[in-house]
Amino acid sequence: MQRRKFLQLSSLSVASLSIKQNNLIPNTIKKPIVISTWDAGIAANKAAWQVLKNNGRALDAVEQGVMATENSINCCVGLGANPDREGIVTLDASIMDENYNCGSVAFLERIKHPISVARRVMEKTPHVMLVGSGAQQFAVAEGFTLEEQKLSTDAQKAYENWLKKSEYKPVINIERSESGHGPFAPAKLESGEWNHDTIGMLALDNKGNLSGSCTTSGQGFKMRGRVGDSPIIGAGLFVDNEVGAAVATGQGEDVIRIAGSHTVVELMRQGLSPEEACKKTIERVIKAKGIEKCKQIQVCFIALNKNGQVGAYALQKGFNYSVCYADDYNKLTNSKYIL
Ligand code: GLY
Repeated sequence: MQRRKFLQLSSLSVASLSIKQNNLIPNTIKKPIVISTWDAGIAANKAAWQVLKNNGRALDAVEQGVMATENSINCCVGLGANPDREGIVTLDASIMDENYNCGSVAFLERIKHPISVARRVMEKTPHVMLVGSGAQQFAVAEGFTLEEQKLSTDAQKAYENWLKKSEYKPVINIERSESGHGPFAPAKLESGEWNHDTIGMLALDNKGNLSGSCTTSGQGFKMRGRVGDSPIIGAGLFVDNEVGAAVATGQGEDVIRIAGSHTVVELMRQGLSPEEACKKTIERVIKAKGIEKCKQIQVCFIALNKNGQVGAYALQKGFNYSVCYADDYNKLTNSKYIL
């Protein structure tokens, strides 16, 4: 009994120490907790928190959370997003629970909530991934509405603007930059807010179970058929309930190359904090691509471990992430970065 108490206390103090080190959350708070990418994560966390605070499952929280973003007209996720080069919005999404169950969809058109279709793939099929017309056919068979093929006003404007030059420069995809944005970056809204084309979310529920989700329109003005990291389990998203979870945003090709989210989780398994694991994984992106080419892109990871510790790292300045663990704590933090 005494020994068990001692072990509990010592593991708590180790967790508390790291939590204090990243200066983010008080050491008394461990779960439930939700973390998501970018400033759109604030609204998404709010939706996820409603599930978590009522003793709900992390899986439900990460689905409900990013559905709020897919619904939002102020974010380049979901059907309001920038289209591909042919002027068509195509969506990718993935979800993973505490038992290595996972589902994803890619190159999906005219469906408002790709994250929910990904969950149905996970729960109702023997497969992990459905793409294109097959994914759409499955969604419709599951009762999802086939929406009108029409660009949002912002996306239409951005597309017409892009068509003037029709430049294809896939290496330039800094989702948020100080100086402006390249042809593949999302447009700045009239409100002055930046759009981002991906939201990733990780949650730890009251039972101590982890889940994650990721949903995106991918790169604006991408080649038709292009699929990024977000629907690829192990690249855009990975959850191991023994260790932790990670999700990526930024240039998907460079996340896929190093199996980014799986790498973050495996580094946490080796004892690294979420922040250290994200940083080492970004270093691997640099090693794979070379530092000069890395200056043209953005790649970012967020991570959450089994103790409720959070962390993030980015290649470049400008990435932020949202953390929520109470009704009155849902805050945006600037990520550290390497370049
Ligand atoms: N990270 C989103 C994408 O590259 O599609």
